[in-house]
Amino acid sequence: MPQGPITSTINNMADVWEVYRDELEGMERQIRANLDSSVALVNTVAAHILSSGGKRIRPFLLLLSARLCGYTGRDHHQLGSLVEFIHTASLLHDDVVDDADIRRGRRTARKVWGNQISILVGDYLYSKAFCQVVDFRNHGINDVLGEACKKMAEGEVLQLYYNGNPSMPEADYIKIVEHKTAGLIAASCRMGAILADASEAQQDALFRFGQHLGIAFQVADDTLDYTANGERLGKTLGQDLRQGKATLPLLHLLQHCSKQDRQMIIDRMETRTLTEEDLGRFIRLMEELGSITYAMDRARSYIAAAQQDLNQFEDSTAKRALSVTADYMVTRDR
Ligand code: IPE
Ligand code: IPE
Ligand code: MG
Ligand code: MG
Repeated sequence: MPQGPITSTINNMADVWEVYRDELEGMERQIRANLDSSVALVNTVAAHILSSGGKRIRPFLLLLSARLCGYTGRDHHQLGSLVEFIHTASLLHDDVVDDADIRRGRRTARKVWGNQISILVGDYLYSKAFCQVVDFRNHGINDVLGEACKKMAEGEVLQLYYNGNPSMPEADYIKIVEHKTAGLIAASCRMGAILADASEAQQDALFRFGQHLGIAFQVADDTLDYTANGERLGKTLGQDLRQGKATLPLLHLLQHCSKQDRQMIIDRMETRTLTEEDLGRFIRLMEELGSITYAMDRARSYIAAAQQDLNQFEDSTAKRALSVTADYMVTRDR
């Protein structure tokens, strides 16, 4: 079990995954074991998305946070798998909200079984996760997870409120991102610390770490929506703009492009008629006007803040792994 002083060299994410391979496999086994509905279709739909190659970032951060705080038990497998259930539920709902056809390189559940099934299996996964979480009989865990779920819904609603609005203030974009994405990531980090009975100060530091890292993660994700290789990303590129969603690179572009280009972008947001040619043009403009660089610089500044949050912890394998994982949030291509 990797903990304590650094015993191996960890330079990149492949090293991190190698060091924690057994732990990650334990988490995967637990995810499969928890899929035990007596209604076979529920398991089939949930397995469709759960077995299609998610990065498992949230349970992994929970595990590393627990180890960082000296945890030596094995309850993180169960708690991590429940966090992944909650994340999966949010994706099943999000793909309905966003009319998404592809997720993790596969047809979305809503595309295969329809919106109704996708929403209801999402509800099942949320409920199942909370049924099992209460078995921990830990008020702190219940509280932090409940808050994170509320925030996710608020973030998604705030995003819908701004849909089609090209003048959304950047501060509100960050608020959306902080709610819809960073909340659950921060909660995962705090729950690792709670499992380890860490001090309030350490719990708070890991929560802040997760918040900073989570914001960077979503800003990078929003940039990848324009810059990634679609196949590698496993999602449809340009989906945000197609859905009328102004994210950080687009907000920057809207502020810096010509009046005509701005009008053209607004038209595509309003009419939802983005062609591949339009998308290519907007991506080129983003590159020329520094919008991609701007967004990624912002993401990197949040990662720098996350790295600072780790300062109060002594050096260890887990700390090194968390630091490398934080950097990976803004260098990843999927
Ligand atoms: C997707 O999350 C939704 C966002 C918050 C960007 P992930 O990028 O963690 O998705 P998976 O689980 O690896 O597919
Ligand atoms: C992810 O948001 C959903 C939640 C965090 C609840 P997005 O809609 O931006 O992410 P993708 O692009 O579908 O993964
Ligand atoms: Mg989406
Ligand atoms: Mg969405």
